[in-house]
Amino acid sequence: MATTIRSIRDLDLKGRRVLIRVDFNVPIDADGVVTDDTRIQAALPTIRHAIEAGARVILASHRGRPKGAYDPKLSLAPAGERLAELLNVEVLLPEEPAGESARKLVLDVRDGQVVLLENLRFDPGETKDDMDLARKLAAMCDVYVNDAFGAAHRAHASVSALPKLVAERGMGLLLERELDILGSLLKAPRAPFVAVVGGAKVSDKIGVIDALITRCDQILIGGAMAYTLLAARDVSLGRSLVEMNKIDIARRALLKAEQRKVELILPVDHVVVDEIDESAERRVATNEDFPPNGIAVDIGPATREIFTAKVREAATVFWNGPMGIFEIDAFAKGSMDVAQAVAHTNGTTVVGGGDSVAALRKSGFVPFVDHVSTGGGASLELIEGKDLPGVEALRVREREQVEVEE
Ligand code: 3PG
Repeated sequence: MATTIRSIRDLDLKGRRVLIRVDFNVPIDADGVVTDDTRIQAALPTIRHAIEAGARVILASHRGRPKGAYDPKLSLAPAGERLAELLNVEVLLPEEPAGESARKLVLDVRDGQVVLLENLRFDPGETKDDMDLARKLAAMCDVYVNDAFGAAHRAHASVSALPKLVAERGMGLLLERELDILGSLLKAPRAPFVAVVGGAKVSDKIGVIDALITRCDQILIGGAMAYTLLAARDVSLGRSLVEMNKIDIARRALLKAEQRKVELILPVDHVVVDEIDESAERRVATNEDFPPNGIAVDIGPATREIFTAKVREAATVFWNGPMGIFEIDAFAKGSMDVAQAVAHTNGTTVVGGGDSVAALRKSGFVPFVDHVSTGGGASLELIEGKDLPGVEALRVREREQVEVEE
């Protein structure tokens, strides 16, 4: 039987309790101030749509990894306050995710009010995909909407067990956009399709590289993961971070790219220091003259030139992972230049979440990128071609099409 996933636009929301799973896993400082509200902003179109359609809105999210018990540092209260400012409506905050006080508040909620349940991971059932917690949440709502792309790869109660208990279910506008844009990279990317992949570990990204090899024309690799791939080509980079136990999988990736005739481009030079410290003296070394005591911390000038030229010529660009230790300004040039090149590309540009988004934000070029994903792990799993539990759980049987003869 064919299945489909409905959009929030296809659901009848008027006067109904609509539980929207959002990803408000946002950074909050010691004074309880949200320091980056990107994920809250990204959920606003769906929340506004529900309010305007006359729904009674119940929001649910996780934050951090509290291990099934209340932790004041991981409360969602500051996120609720920020949401109230952005929406200009009252946001009610029960002190628990699914207990009696939350249930009472939800049952009393009036039209136009918004409830934000407390951190779902304060309940030990959330990360266990627990049916009891799912039942409690299901009893609070008539309609379920998932707009938490960042958590869609987690088989957790609010993402996986819960939707299957609510017949009226669908995806929010953010989830729809993420699936549409990231999915189009897999289906029909315009050529040349260039991927820039970085980050510390080959092991984290090997699935993505494998998937990209079957779709891209060129893959540019920076960050410490490039050092493991260079080691697989017998290039020795002094004391740079290399995953010695991953050399075999690195070799297999190089071979696969060669067989598929995909250009897998590794750095030719590096910014090198003797210790990882922002005041450390920096020099540039090539793969051939790398000092035995040196540590690579960023791509070098010749590599920056090669990478940025390839990015600018691309019709489709996907960037995931920084080119070096970009958190330290002195080692950020490679990531900043890639960010600028992505921003200046005429083609379709997509940046996958996590550290690459932090690097992009540091560069100030966010407004010039077509799509900046709100998902870290979720965007990688989607690109790898994996099914996301939070998306699969939304599927409903397609209604039979009855042809009416005139
Ligand atoms: C994220 O920040 O990537 C999501 O909110 C998922 O969080 P998690 O990795 O703690 O499940």
